[in-house]
Amino acid sequence: MCGIVGYVGEREASSVLLSGLRMLEYRGYDSAGIAVMSDGDVQVRRSVGKLQNLADLLEADPLQGRCGIGHTRWATHGRPSEENAHPHRAGRVVLIHNGIIENFLELRAELQRAGRTFSSETDTEIIAHMIDVAIQGGSDLLAATRSTVAALEGSFSIVVMSRDEPGRLVAAKSATPIVIGVGEGENFIASDVPALLEYTRDMLFLEDGEIAEVDCDGVRLSRFDGTPIERQPRRITWDPVTAQKGGFKHFMLKEIHEQPQAMIDTMRGRLLLEAGDVSLAEIDLGAQWWERVERIDLVACGTAWHACLVAKFFIEKLARIPCNVDYGSEFRYRDPILDDRELLIVVSQSGETADTLAAVEAAREKGSRTLAVCNVVDSSIARRVDSVLYTHAGPEISVASTKAFVTQLVALLLIAVHLGRRRGFVDADTCRQLLEEMLHLPTPLREVLDRADDIEAVARRYAKAENFLYVGRGLNYPIALEGALKLKELSYIHAEGYPAGELKHGPIALISETMPVVVLLPRNTAFNKTMSNMKEIESRGGQIIVVTDTTDAAVDAVATDVIRVPTVNPLLMPLLLTVPLQLLAYFVAVHRGTDVDQPRNLAKSVTVE
Ligand code: F6R
Repeated sequence: MCGIVGYVGEREASSVLLSGLRMLEYRGYDSAGIAVMSDGDVQVRRSVGKLQNLADLLEADPLQGRCGIGHTRWATHGRPSEENAHPHRAGRVVLIHNGIIENFLELRAELQRAGRTFSSETDTEIIAHMIDVAIQGGSDLLAATRSTVAALEGSFSIVVMSRDEPGRLVAAKSATPIVIGVGEGENFIASDVPALLEYTRDMLFLEDGEIAEVDCDGVRLSRFDGTPIERQPRRITWDPVTAQKGGFKHFMLKEIHEQPQAMIDTMRGRLLLEAGDVSLAEIDLGAQWWERVERIDLVACGTAWHACLVAKFFIEKLARIPCNVDYGSEFRYRDPILDDRELLIVVSQSGETADTLAAVEAAREKGSRTLAVCNVVDSSIARRVDSVLYTHAGPEISVASTKAFVTQLVALLLIAVHLGRRRGFVDADTCRQLLEEMLHLPTPLREVLDRADDIEAVARRYAKAENFLYVGRGLNYPIALEGALKLKELSYIHAEGYPAGELKHGPIALISETMPVVVLLPRNTAFNKTMSNMKEIESRGGQIIVVTDTTDAAVDAVATDVIRVPTVNPLLMPLLLTVPLQLLAYFVAVHRGTDVDQPRNLAKSVTVE
């Protein structure tokens, strides 16, 4: 989720690169750098923190040249630091990268055996070395890049330059976006359209498995295997703000659509399908730490707290460890009984939430081990806990959390499998099947996204309601809470979530024809019981919006509206059911005309108690 820019032409490269990076600032970053071909060599400048730090550095120590690359980093491997910032150099080669290289440990070991040394903790630096090795062996930059990408596993986009071939850039894409801006006597490269709009509107979009060779005379595209590609540029008419949103109306909608990829990125390199197990080497809590855990406290705020509620089901089912779930704001004030047999798992997108951080401090004081599931590398929480399992959702810009939540569920399920396998409560075959279904989950998730128009039609019918109830059972009950939270945050409609079985203990008094009730109804062991709850709502005149994977006519007979989702493993259902509820809340808010990306009174990071 880094920002990438490249330029070759007649302009001063450093100013084009810097202005392009500024247009990518909305993606979030923790360090930045540029490299420019100057005086027969590639010169690099890098700095940590705001882009302005890099601009100040360039003012004090300018780089002059007509060809270069620039990068803003969102850390995944290695903390944010100058050494880990891009561009990375190896011999004659300088390179920027977006994505994750899964087999980087093996590749780095191989390069070390060949005498290469490394100056960063990143997976990126190994790519630069591999290309440099190939050039030393007689390849040109294009051939060296081609042979290198063939050996990489993972998702990546790279742009590379060599001091031996001034005025030439090579870009390769396997998963994360790369766009080439086509100019006259100059050409541009970027990870995102907004970086280039100031200079050109003619864009060539690279597909997975493609390489572009770019100089000031033109752009030549080919596949990784060398097959040439003919493609005409597309004229982009987006205004700069729409471009930042990738053509979507809001960041939230863009982030909802990014969920299949965010899920893949969070699973990447962590599934051992053959062994029916997971590899979570990042979690280092001492030898055989999982044997000493007697209880788990899951602590977070808001949406992340809902992820903890689901995680309780995951962990208790797969690993049989008793779990307690707490709000960050409550945990330490209830004087929790903690000692070294306790594991505290905190969940936080930003890694800066004050209440969640305070829970970490309270647990540390009592000698408990602490583990964070977090999206922001080197954030306050990430630095304070004993270990971190990062979600790889990428920067989340919309205030309401969406893609961070589903990746939190992925990460927490991986932890449950990790514990369950090591403690012997779940066998390899059961886990293999679960992990295989998890790996394929992005497909049913995309199917739900493809039904966005149907969900919008439902949203339109209920957009004027002033109250909503959401109900679910078991591990889908927290999804009812999450659906209600999304609706109230975005549309300011009063909404509550309940376990479906609780309705008759009070909330049923609220049911009337003006109270829509969203019912989560997967075909599982609680199906018949939830159907009975629906009948109770129907007989009191409530309007029922059912989200279900069944095609049962009995459901349609009771429901006012039905949103259908594909059937998946019951443990994965919460991840799938989340998506229609996000879309429902989004479209209701759009119809009510509220500020979707920045709802009133809310902030993205809550750093005060
Ligand atoms: C809801 C939302 C908030 C956050 C909560 C915790 O859409 O975004 O409820 O989930 O403030 O934030 P993090 O995860 O950054 O600790």
